[in-house]
Amino acid sequence: MLRNTHEAPPDAGKARYVRAMFGAIAGRYDLLNTLLSFSAHKWWRRVALRRCALRPGMTALDVGAGTADMALGMAARVGPEGQVLGVDFCEPMLRVGARKVAARGLDGRVRLLAGDAQALPLADGSVDAAVTAFVLRNVTDVPRTFREMARVTRPGGMVVSLELSRPASPLLRRLYYLYFYRVLPRIGGMLSRKDAYTYLPNSLTDFHSPEELAEMMRAAGLEEVRALRLTGGIVAVHAGRVPGGSLPPTAEEPHGIEPGGAAAREGAGDDDLRGALGGA
Ligand SMILES: C[S@@+](CC[C@H](N)C(=O)[O-])C[C@H]1O[C@@H](n2cnc3c(N)ncnc32)[C@H](O)[C@@H]1O
Repeated sequence: MLRNTHEAPPDAGKARYVRAMFGAIAGRYDLLNTLLSFSAHKWWRRVALRRCALRPGMTALDVGAGTADMALGMAARVGPEGQVLGVDFCEPMLRVGARKVAARGLDGRVRLLAGDAQALPLADGSVDAAVTAFVLRNVTDVPRTFREMARVTRPGGMVVSLELSRPASPLLRRLYYLYFYRVLPRIGGMLSRKDAYTYLPNSLTDFHSPEELAEMMRAAGLEEVRALRLTGGIVAVHAGRVPGGSLPPTAEEPHGIEPGGAAAREGAGDDDLRGALGGA
């Protein structure tokens, strides 16, 4: 695995804690993801992957790749001529990911690298799209992570985030917090490390709203920023385009998320926040 030689990111204390925590739960991470989200994470991932507008032969990046679910989804989209890079600072998570990649015979297409999301070990404009899933709550500097993703993505390419969020409806939010603070740490504690699943709700309580994340993407220089709430706002997908270049919409998924369009048909009740966010 390549080593990241860039400068150390700020707030090394949080980074150390996060790396150790994911290192401790790496073996159970996939199982718990599926159990605790009732498998919904698989659909959320597909929605985010479509926003990447990937085509066969492209190069894609998964930031905070962990056990490589997004990297594997990208590999299917870029095909045998394409390439996927996954970067994560937790080697036990990457080792689980590497086993999954090997089991699918995709070693030649997917490379997993040790590195920091806030100082990506990649050249400017070197990938066609960059995605990050369930990572931003864990980094110390979200704007810097978006700037890095925008830096390494070529003009016209997409930068996409999938992250847990807080439901908009007060009733749903109460139920959600009940689940997150009471149920989830118990199940997590039975099957894995309890403190990791106590950290999860805490990391969400203070996390940025979808509107704030969209603003950070714009501040990182991204254009046409769109945010989409899924499953009543439990998660949000954000997508923005690096200025310049051209990337015509794929037949599969146009970047513009129109009300009543493909995304809306996929999940009744999902909110396109474009209007509320004043997205370009
Ligand atoms: C909740 S897991 C998500 C893993 C994967 N993206 C997925 O969708 O399942 C968060 C991952 O982000 C990684 N991570 C957190 N902060 C990071 C950073 N600053 N640089 C690189 N990886 C980071 C952790 O090591 C962990 O593997």
